[in-house]
Amino acid sequence: MTQHLITTADFTNEEILKLYEDTKLFLDLQSNNLLQGKLIVTLFFENSTRTRSSFEIAAKRLGAEVVNLEVHTSSTKKGETVYDTVANLSAMKPDAIIIRHSENGLPESLREFVSCPILNAGDGKNAHPTQALLDLFTIMEHFNYNVEGKNIAIVGDILNSRVASSNLELLPRFGLNPILVAPKEFHVNSSFKTVKNIKRVIDQLDIIMSLRVQHERHAFTYSKEEVEEKKNKYAKKYCITKKLMKEKDILLLHPGPVNRNVDISDEMLEDPRCKVLEQVKNGVAVRMACLKKLILNQ
Ligand code: NCD
Repeated sequence: MTQHLITTADFTNEEILKLYEDTKLFLDLQSNNLLQGKLIVTLFFENSTRTRSSFEIAAKRLGAEVVNLEVHTSSTKKGETVYDTVANLSAMKPDAIIIRHSENGLPESLREFVSCPILNAGDGKNAHPTQALLDLFTIMEHFNYNVEGKNIAIVGDILNSRVASSNLELLPRFGLNPILVAPKEFHVNSSFKTVKNIKRVIDQLDIIMSLRVQHERHAFTYSKEEVEEKKNKYAKKYCITKKLMKEKDILLLHPGPVNRNVDISDEMLEDPRCKVLEQVKNGVAVRMACLKKLILNQ
């Protein structure tokens, strides 16, 4: 049976630990020919810099060929449904399809239309499994795989973030305790401890995952001035600064793109505790391992 990666729940803990063994072997990001002769199609209906190039580099480092379907000029613009586009692509027999779409649950509903693995590169606010897998990998490597009982603050627009939602599914499976830190408007219904002020929990934290405010997913559109005002107000309370972090031994993560001095201060982005670029590097290796697993079924 074809295995997909639509949400982190598609992989068992055992599969994930095995995936990380492969990831470690790929960490030098050197080329090999494991997927030589394989063809991977990418379909990005939503903007992306990091995730798309990360997947493309991962595929190429494994020796696969990549076809990027230009969705802005494709037949979906002529009224074809995404389902038909994907079914037609699938009929051309690619070895995997990587898809990003603004609609929650769209990749899930494609399962029956394709005969190759689908990798979800982000659907609306629903899921972003490879991001959560690379976040957990970064955490695992940092703590030498002893992550049981570690406290992680997830800070920001939790309500609209697919990165938060995938991490909230994945991290507790490995014994991590998420603490949600957000203004009231971004709170979600959950059993996780939720606070409005990070200072209340800072002394308990091992990890902070800062998130970007997902303006594009908010129902209201504000004027430029209002956005600026909201940003400043948000930054005052939620920006991760040196003043907040002091010399505390806390790992600082962010999926990118970072809004400088709103999500994380310039100074903290330079700080060795901030692992944003390591996440990016790890992301390529994790995606190499995911492609290998799903395409070669091993
Ligand atoms: C995230 C996304 O697109 O969900 N970025 C990413 O993939 N690295 C987070 C974001 O856009 O804020």
